[in-house]
Amino acid sequence: MSQCRHKMNTYWEKHSQNGDVTEMLLDSKGAEISDIEIKEIMNYLPDYKEKDVLELGAGIGRYTTKLAEKAKSVIAVDFMRNFIDKNKETNGHNKNIQFVCKNVLELELETNSLDLIFSNWLLMYLDDHEVSILFHNMLKWLRPTGRLFYRESCYKQSGNLLRQFNPTIYRTPDEYAKITSEIVHTNKDGRQISFELVVTGSIKTYIQMKNNSNQIFWLLKSTERDNGAPADHGIKVENE
Ligand SMILES: C[S@@+](CC[C@H](N)C(=O)[O-])C[C@H]1O[C@@H](n2cnc3c(N)ncnc32)[C@H](O)[C@@H]1O
Repeated sequence: MSQCRHKMNTYWEKHSQNGDVTEMLLDSKGAEISDIEIKEIMNYLPDYKEKDVLELGAGIGRYTTKLAEKAKSVIAVDFMRNFIDKNKETNGHNKNIQFVCKNVLELELETNSLDLIFSNWLLMYLDDHEVSILFHNMLKWLRPTGRLFYRESCYKQSGNLLRQFNPTIYRTPDEYAKITSEIVHTNKDGRQISFELVVTGSIKTYIQMKNNSNQIFWLLKSTERDNGAPADHGIKVENE
C-alpha cells in the first residue's frame, strides 16, 4: 500500500467514529450548513430522473437520499464500514440503492453503464495518480450522454474541526483541470473520448455562510475527440 493510501485510510478511520453530519463536513457548523448546501448542489445536477447514478465517497448518505428519490438506480460507494452502515440505516428502504463498501479505486463496473457520476469531496483524498485512474474509469463507465459532477475544497482546509494530522490534498482548480484534460479513453471501435467542461463555480452556501469561495464544483460531459484535439478544460466560472 502506498504511503498516501495508508495516510488517507488512517485519516478516515479516525474521522468515521460517529457517522454524523459533523464528520461529513468536518466543520462545527456542519449541521447548520448541510441542508442549505445540499439544496444548492442538487440544483447544479443535470436531470437524473429514471437514470443510472453512481455516487462515489457517499459517506452517511446525505446525497444518496436525494439521488435515490428520482434515479432509476444508485450505487453508493464508500470505504468506511461505519458510514455505509449509517447510509443503509437512513436509506436502505429505497430498493433502488446498492450499497458498496469499497475503496473507489477497486471498483469494477460495466463500460457505458451510467448516466451520472456524483462525487462530493472525494478526490482530495486521492493522490494525483489515483485521481487520474479514477477519472479514466469514470469516462469508461459513463454512457455517451453521461455527466460527471464533482466538488472539492481547493487551496486550503475549509472545515474548522480540529485535526491532529491532515493528509488532505487541497489542489487548485487549474490542477484539477490539468488532470482531467489528460484523460483519454479509446472505445472498442477505436474512437477517442475525453471530458469536456460544462460548468464550474464556487459553492454559494460557503461564500455566504463561511466567507469561503474555495469550495469548487465541476460538471463535465463525456465527448468524442476530434482528430486528437485537446479536450476543452477551460474554466467557465458560473457564479462570479
Ligand atoms: C468529506 S466526506 C464526504 C461524504 C459525502 N460525499 C458527503 O458529502 O456527505 C468524504 C468521504 O469520502 C470517503 N472516501 C475517501 N476516500 C475514499 C476511497 N478511496 N474510497 C471510498 N471512499 C472514500 C470517506 O470515507 C468519506 O465518507
